Amino acid sequence: MLKLGVLASGGGSNLQAIIDEIAAKKLDAEIRVVISNKTDAYALTRAKNHGIPTRVITKEAFPVKDAFDAQICRALKESGVELVVLAGYMRLLSPAVIRAFPQRMMNIHPSLLPSFSGLHVQQKALEYGVKFSGATVHFVDEGLDTGPIIIQAVVPVLDSDTVESLSKRILAEEHRIYPEAIRLFIEDRLTVEGRRVFIKDPAVRAIKEAKK
Ligand code: GAR
Repeated sequence: MLKLGVLASGGGSNLQAIIDEIAAKKLDAEIRVVISNKTDAYALTRAKNHGIPTRVITKEAFPVKDAFDAQICRALKESGVELVVLAGYMRLLSPAVIRAFPQRMMNIHPSLLPSFSGLHVQQKALEYGVKFSGATVHFVDEGLDTGPIIIQAVVPVLDSDTVESLSKRILAEEHRIYPEAIRLFIEDRLTVEGRRVFIKDPAVRAIKEAKK
C-alpha cells in the first residue's frame, strides 16, 4: 500500500477525489498526512473527517523559506511518505524538498501545460482566447509547472464561459485524472525518459513480470 502525503492550500476537492478512490478500493494507497500552509484550508477539514493526520505549517510561523520547507520535508519524512501529491498547493517548494522526492512528487495544474503556468490560469486561458483548455498532472521538477507530463485532459472553452464555469469543467477532469496518475504510479507503469513519461501497458508489464 503506497503511503501518500498530500499538500493543499485550499478547498481540497482533489484531495477528496483521492480519498474517495481509496475508500472505494480503487487506489491501493493510504494518505499518511495532509499538510497545509493555510490554517483555514477546507482540505484540513476533509482530512479530519476521514481520520487522516494533518499538519499546518505557515509562513507566519516559519518566515524564512528554507526553515519553512525544512518543516514540510520533515513532516513528510516523519510520516513515511513515498509519494508526495500537491493538490492545490499554492506555494513554490524549494529545490531541497523536491530533491528529497525525486520523481516521487506530482502536481495537478488547471491548464494544458506548457500553456498558462502559474496562477489565475483559467482567466489567462479565457483572455487568450484558446478554444480548448484542460488539466495536467506532472512530476514536479525545480521549475514552475515544468516537470514531465504524466496525463492531460482536454475540455472545450465555450463562448459563454466565465472563469467559474471553465474552472468547474476543468476541475471535474482533475478529479478523474489525478487518481488515475497515482494509480499508474502504484502499478509501476510510469517511466520517465527526459521530458517524456511513458505509460506501460499492463499486459506488457505482466509478461515482463512473468519472465523474471
Ligand atoms: C485546482 O484547480 C488545482 O489544479 C489548482 O488549484 C485548484 C485546487 O482545487 N492548482 C494550481 O493552480 C497549482 N498551480 P482543490 O483545492 O479543490 O483541489
